[in-house]
Amino acid sequence: MLENRVNGMYYIYYNAMMRYSRKDNQMLKLNEKYLRGFVTKEELDEMQVEVAKADDILMNKKGAGSDFLGWIDLPVNYDKEEFDRIVETAEKIKRMCDILVVIGIGGSYLGARAAIEFVKSQRYNFLPKDTPDIYFAGNSISSSDMAELLQICEGKNICINVISKSGKTTEPAIAFRIFRKLLEDKYGENAKDRIFVTTDKCKGKLKELSDQNGYETFVVPDDIGGRYSVLTAVGLLPIAVAGADIKAMMQGAADARKAYLDADINKNDCYKYAAIRNILYRKGKKIEVFETYESALQMTSEWWKQLYGESEGKDNKGIFPTSVTFSTDLHSLGQIIQDGERTIFGTIIDVKESNHTIIIPDDPKNADELNFISNKTMDYVNHTAFIATALAHCDGGVPNIVIEVDKRDEYNFGYLVYFFEKACGISGYILGVNPFDQPGVEGYKNNMYALLGKPGKEHDKRREELKLKIN
Ligand code: PA5
Repeated sequence: MLENRVNGMYYIYYNAMMRYSRKDNQMLKLNEKYLRGFVTKEELDEMQVEVAKADDILMNKKGAGSDFLGWIDLPVNYDKEEFDRIVETAEKIKRMCDILVVIGIGGSYLGARAAIEFVKSQRYNFLPKDTPDIYFAGNSISSSDMAELLQICEGKNICINVISKSGKTTEPAIAFRIFRKLLEDKYGENAKDRIFVTTDKCKGKLKELSDQNGYETFVVPDDIGGRYSVLTAVGLLPIAVAGADIKAMMQGAADARKAYLDADINKNDCYKYAAIRNILYRKGKKIEVFETYESALQMTSEWWKQLYGESEGKDNKGIFPTSVTFSTDLHSLGQIIQDGERTIFGTIIDVKESNHTIIIPDDPKNADELNFISNKTMDYVNHTAFIATALAHCDGGVPNIVIEVDKRDEYNFGYLVYFFEKACGISGYILGVNPFDQPGVEGYKNNMYALLGKPGKEHDKRREELKLKIN
């Protein structure tokens, strides 16, 4: 334990690495306390039949999208040689650069960023560390975003990891073109040693470019879609560069895979989560708010929103996934959650053990009349805010599913990822949609290619159709 005094505040730091040892029985827990009066035992019993059916469809690959189920066994069935190469390459990148620019969008970006912030911090780049800064590019088309990042990169040693399964998505393609030029201007023919590509194993423009230029490549497996890909090279390479233990992350996912095999919702919290959200949806709860009490989980919320939004939002169906960070948002969106239209339910991530402890100092004069919480930890107050809010929301007609996570480490991140991925597959099949396609996303991409004048008959045809609508 390290202790020091800054600005009169008393801080106690626990070194997370020192505490990294876990008991075999640690896992997520679904706390149903704040669902009382909203979901009955009878409703859950009735839902069991549908859950068992969804389990059969998913596990026996009988449903729509069954070509994209590689993530189910991924935690125990991954390419071990590639995994070792990821670890080695991460070490090389750490030695070579001050900044790793990770280029990708959607499923090719959110998981890595979520993991880095969950395990390390939202302020990873600004905290003392012996790993490179990591910036994400190609997830917008804003010239300001790009200009600012280029400014940050000035005078720094840079490596790039460009990630795109299709190898043709516009946003990352633009960013890659800009950064490739920057690296070629700066490092000449050695630029190729600083470019790492994660894409399809044999097709796509990115793969062609890599083969032509000799970039090191990693594979997005054919049977894993973008939003289920964080535990492939897509997420693992940047996560490893941040100094996170990717073996522990895979172990967490492997243990979750084992834990969530039983189709009985009374023995399987992952399936129970899928069941509860469908029960609530059928009762008119159309909006699910992912509620966290740590800024480090803001990107996990973004990852979760993509997973559920893209998987379930189709055929004019689906729960709208949104998120808040409390207590910050208690002073904004908290109002509408508490008092607005009663179409909302919450899914709260309750992290049991904080990575840091800060004790609120005593003031002998009690000038601010805050001594009722003197010498209490900030976590105690944060946890009290969670209980107070969950109770208030229940009183206001907003049910809450609580998912308890032991702590913010690699193991728990891997566990959490698997929990939500499998619950999403089950939930999507209960809802009656294909949880593994994203026709809506493809629709926008195709319109954009057409409007920007990309050559090709299908784009020409679409361009004509769109012109009729615009004019
Ligand atoms: O989940 C998905 O499939 C999408 O969000 C994709 O990840 C996103 O569109 C990026 O696609 P790509 O990796 O082909 O560039």
